[in-house]
Amino acid sequence: MNIAKLKTIYFSPGKKTAKIVKLLVESLNIPSENYNITSYKKRNEKIVIDEKELIVFANPVYGGRIPAIAADEYKNIKGKNNPAVILAVYGNGSYGDALLEIQEIIENKGFKVIAAGAFIANHSIMRRVAVNRPDKKDKEVINLFATKIKEKLENIKDIQKLPKLQVKGKYPFRRYPGMPLKPAVIINKCDLCGACVINCPVNAIPKENPMITDKKKCISCMSCHIICTRQARKINVILYELCEFPFRHMYNKRKEPEFFI
Ligand SMILES: Cc1cc2nc3c(=O)[nH]c(=O)nc-3n(C[C@H](O)[C@H](O)[C@H](O)COP(=O)(O)O)c2cc1C
Repeated sequence: MNIAKLKTIYFSPGKKTAKIVKLLVESLNIPSENYNITSYKKRNEKIVIDEKELIVFANPVYGGRIPAIAADEYKNIKGKNNPAVILAVYGNGSYGDALLEIQEIIENKGFKVIAAGAFIANHSIMRRVAVNRPDKKDKEVINLFATKIKEKLENIKDIQKLPKLQVKGKYPFRRYPGMPLKPAVIINKCDLCGACVINCPVNAIPKENPMITDKKKCISCMSCHIICTRQARKINVILYELCEFPFRHMYNKRKEPEFFI
């Protein structure tokens, strides 16, 4: 199958999914156009898909699901029987139903999943879990994944006749009610620079008063915490330690990336 271009569409508040997408793009070595749908403002831009394009859809895993924002965005993109690669990036816990969920959404929108990968990155909330991931070993798997994708593309004669790719996950999808951990401002550290306002993917921090977080809108993605150079946005320390300790001990064994092709 002839591929003229690669388009990547990814949601990545903590920038780790973006990193894995970048590694895959480098390994695929196909001219690419990249759509980062994390920013609240950029999400209004229409993404037009052309024929003969390979599309990569990538997002983090939240509670074994895909972030609701990414799901809503994917539903607005119309494919033209394009082959698609889907990526779920998770923090060494579980990727649950995330791959199956992406597959279900985009195959209803005119894409055909030809490859799927679950990759591990440093957990954006539980920062002591999966430290330094993705690492050298992960990069080797990403390279191998890219080689297999290229081989598969070369062998596709009629994309409509491809059988459905089997990925892990099950119906009904698990319920993800959201996280109770929400970063708040440490008042004497914040200099009102507004970096958190611009980077918040859900517009939960008002421009007029960056000291406030709308807890109903906040999705605990940690973008504000990661972007703040003054460490002025943090989760309550006691609450954090109460959640982090059991999580870290439950998921301390290194998980390896998995792919389906
Ligand atoms: C709200 C939230 C929920 C998460 N849920 C899971 C989970 O269910 N399993 C897991 O292994 N990691 C989980 N993680 C970790 C992320 O999937 C992981 O850190 C990912 O690399 C973040 O991607 P990003 O850096 O592109 O935002 C969660 C992170 C956040 C912020």
